[in-house]
Amino acid sequence: MGSAARLDGTGMAKLRINGQALEIAMDPATPLLWAIRDAANLTGTKQGCGGAGRCGACTVIVDGAAMLSCAVPIGSLEGADVTTIEGLANHPVTAALVAEEAIQCGFCIPGFACAAAALLQQNPRPSPEQVDALPNLCSCGCQPRLRRAIARAAGTMLAPAAPGPTPPPEIVPAR
Ligand code: FES
Ligand code: FES
Repeated sequence: MGSAARLDGTGMAKLRINGQALEIAMDPATPLLWAIRDAANLTGTKQGCGGAGRCGACTVIVDGAAMLSCAVPIGSLEGADVTTIEGLANHPVTAALVAEEAIQCGFCIPGFACAAAALLQQNPRPSPEQVDALPNLCSCGCQPRLRRAIARAAGTMLAPAAPGPTPPPEIVPAR
């Protein structure tokens, strides 16, 4: 059994968050956002619009799909596999956001990165219209750079892996 994250004993939801199995003892009606932040202690995921479903700052990936964590109760997620921004540390989207200098205040970035990673997982070559359709808001006005970051990440993910180093002449590769 994985590590336990228990707050009040009124319920118990079993989730995997960033690959770690957790039993979360919170009311089943608790939004996933608060289970992530207060039980799992992963504070990268943000609340931007008071849980109204309008900003996308709380976006995480649930079973491969982007989801507003402010809008989904943990009671509906038994056994779900959740990825937060902390789980994307080595994802090409994260590197692309840095390379494109797409981060100003940074508040929207955890949700945007999760939305972008889920989009690229489902569609490795998203159209500009599909990128623009992401519901994530950036009040710093970084949308053009956020779009470029998705394009850069898509290119990275589609690029063939670099060939390995050539062995020195005295080493004969196995046949
Ligand atoms: S906090 Fe704004 S959509 Fe979830
Ligand atoms: S970088 Fe500030 S809200 Fe997007």
